[in-house]
Amino acid sequence: MSPRITVVGTGYVGTTHAATLAELGFRVLGLDIDEDRVAALSAGRVPFVEPGLDELVARHVATGALRFTTSYREAAAFGDVHFLCVPTPEAADGRAELKPLVGAVEELAPLLTRPVLLVGKSTVPVGTAADLAKRLTDLTGHPGVELAWNPEFLREGTAVADSLRPDRLVFGVSSPAATAALREVYRVQLAAGVPAVVTDPATAELVKLSANTFLATKISFINAVSEVCEAVGADVGAVAAALGHDPRIGGAHLRPGLGFGGGCLPKDLRSFRAQAVDFGLTDTATLLGVVDLINNRARQRLVDLVRAECGGELRGRRVAALGAAFKPDSDDVRDSPALAAAVALHREGAVVTVHDPAAGPTARRAEPRLRHADTVVDACRDADVVVHLTEWRDYGELDPAALAEVVRGRVLVDARTTLDPAPWQEAGWRLRALGRPGPEQREGES
Ligand code: UDX
Repeated sequence: MSPRITVVGTGYVGTTHAATLAELGFRVLGLDIDEDRVAALSAGRVPFVEPGLDELVARHVATGALRFTTSYREAAAFGDVHFLCVPTPEAADGRAELKPLVGAVEELAPLLTRPVLLVGKSTVPVGTAADLAKRLTDLTGHPGVELAWNPEFLREGTAVADSLRPDRLVFGVSSPAATAALREVYRVQLAAGVPAVVTDPATAELVKLSANTFLATKISFINAVSEVCEAVGADVGAVAAALGHDPRIGGAHLRPGLGFGGGCLPKDLRSFRAQAVDFGLTDTATLLGVVDLINNRARQRLVDLVRAECGGELRGRRVAALGAAFKPDSDDVRDSPALAAAVALHREGAVVTVHDPAAGPTARRAEPRLRHADTVVDACRDADVVVHLTEWRDYGELDPAALAEVVRGRVLVDARTTLDPAPWQEAGWRLRALGRPGPEQREGES
């Protein structure tokens, strides 16, 4: 018989994991301490934007395959496999905050009365699983209760597809029984040929930190190249495209621009760096610190570029900020480079009006001091500069001629370097982007 599954924590990872397991035929119980969230999910509503997830949750709540609760007692009685998808946000010192995760184990452990498997999915410093396993043994009365680590690699915006068909599975286990249980949970993905790396829990923890840190490093590398391009008048877009054709490098996560943000890459980079410091690995800590530095500098470089386009002074200038989410197809504004850049422009005295196709409400809540508009036209009305901050598909379909009628200055700064310059230039816009020569430099060349 299929194992019954609980998912502790119903954020992006937990809700997606719960819904996709229900889709694969399991009976799933999601647990969260947030009563409002549990009420929304129990009514089939997902309280954040993630394409395709709403439909999946609604469908499986309706069939009864997917349920939600706030009760650890109910979860303990229900589950054969308990996935821990509790957030591990960044603490003030840059380390991962583990209290919610430890708290979840401490709540669940004493209630377990039969052999079950706990599986950590949260991104954690190496050694966390070993500490939690000790705590689990201390708190549970049952000798058959075990802990494994199975990091999650899904991306926001494509979470459902990533979860149904991941690039790989990583099982950090301490026994053949744990491997067998995980093979059962992921039987559909394994049958479809998804590779599984079976290893110990510490290595599994490190895989996740290394993966996110590597992606962050790749993005900062191309943004470092972008800085060089600005110094020498070269074009980072062409450099990135040419690099991407080399299969050893690959074009993914090599898009230059505003840098990385969101709930994962920045905090995982800092958590890994803090661990390197703890282990006395100073060169590794330096490397990761520089990745962070270059990433944050991209936001400042954008402000510098917008200021230059405003004649060296931002005070009183009207800026239309297109995009607030940290990436398209999401309403997540956690550590969003887009919103951070908008705030930095505001701090220098610009009058910034933000638009986002989905993150309007979250951006309003996070940054009430900025102006917010419901339409692109309202955001752009009388703007001196339009800044493209999040590469939503909608922004690629804008009509530059129509927007030219409502702005005060036809200046577009494309911080994501994804807009097709031709239609904007034809409509009389001046285009600028980080790491790309400006019109003056290009004219000088011809
Ligand atoms: C990331 C990892 O990709 C995922 O595997 C892990 O499980 C969670 O963290 P996510 O945070 O959803 O996923 O976003 P991702 O697509 O990695 O983008 C992160 C940030 O980097 C975004 O702000 C994005 O705009 C930026 N980015 C991404 C770039 O600046 N350039 C790129 O080439 C790619």
